[in-house]
Amino acid sequence: MQTIQAPAPTRDESLIWRTARIPVKHWGKGVEDLDRAHPNVRQSVVDFVETWLQRHIPHGAVMSDLPEDRSRIGQGLLLFGNPGTGKTTTAVAVLTTIRRRHGHMVFFVPFADYVQALIDHRNWRDLYQATGDELARERFLALQKLLDKVLTAPVVVLDDMGKEHHTSSGFAADVFDALIRGRHRNGLPTILTSNNKPGDWDKVYNASMQSFLTEACEVVPMAGTDHRRA
Ligand SMILES: Nc1ncnc2c1ncn2[C@@H]1O[C@H](COP(=O)(O)OP(=O)(O)OP(=O)(O)O)[C@@H](O)[C@H]1O
Ligand SMILES: [Mg+2]
Repeated sequence: MQTIQAPAPTRDESLIWRTARIPVKHWGKGVEDLDRAHPNVRQSVVDFVETWLQRHIPHGAVMSDLPEDRSRIGQGLLLFGNPGTGKTTTAVAVLTTIRRRHGHMVFFVPFADYVQALIDHRNWRDLYQATGDELARERFLALQKLLDKVLTAPVVVLDDMGKEHHTSSGFAADVFDALIRGRHRNGLPTILTSNNKPGDWDKVYNASMQSFLTEACEVVPMAGTDHRRA
């Protein structure tokens, strides 16, 4: 009698992409899959992945581990352009390629979700401290994990910068400032996508952030038409 064998477990990358919070549509697609990308964009992202080891400084690195040319340490990318020009697709392709080539942890988060997670984290923590509520503790610890990854992952995509809610207190700008400066200082590149031109970042955030941005990120304009209409 023939027995039906359970399929042998295969190594599947889906857990990696899920844990990295990569949008399902983009799972497993690397820079080699950017078939319709503008040649300049393709060149910029290929250069980025080729120079990854000069950009990222692993935790616990010593002096002799630093590259001779330190100009790229902590330097990420800023992909800006109109809707549908492929910013998210391109940013995620870089994450996928770095993960596959170097095995480094990668992470994707819409910036608005990060700002909201900070607010929720504070609220759940305050509730837990005031009441000892277990659910509040669980929520606060889960958010803590997410926030830690954004701070410490070797490379993070902050998607859709500028679409987050802005308040008069300037909370989003302060959050962005602390995050991008902290990551850059620690040799952790950040990839940003935005509809805003770098020239407008002083209005969206502030003038010092606009100036720092050009040091923390290589600017890549995403020209062309909306791929969604093509
Ligand atoms: N290089 C490419 N070749 C073919 N299709 C692409 C390419 N880049 C993106 N697309 C497709 O175009 C659509 C829009 O891409 P994507 O979401 O990356 O754009 P976006 O610039 O991030 O848009 P938004 O500003 O709305 O966030 C998607 O369906 C995507 O699969
Ligand atoms: Mg997008």
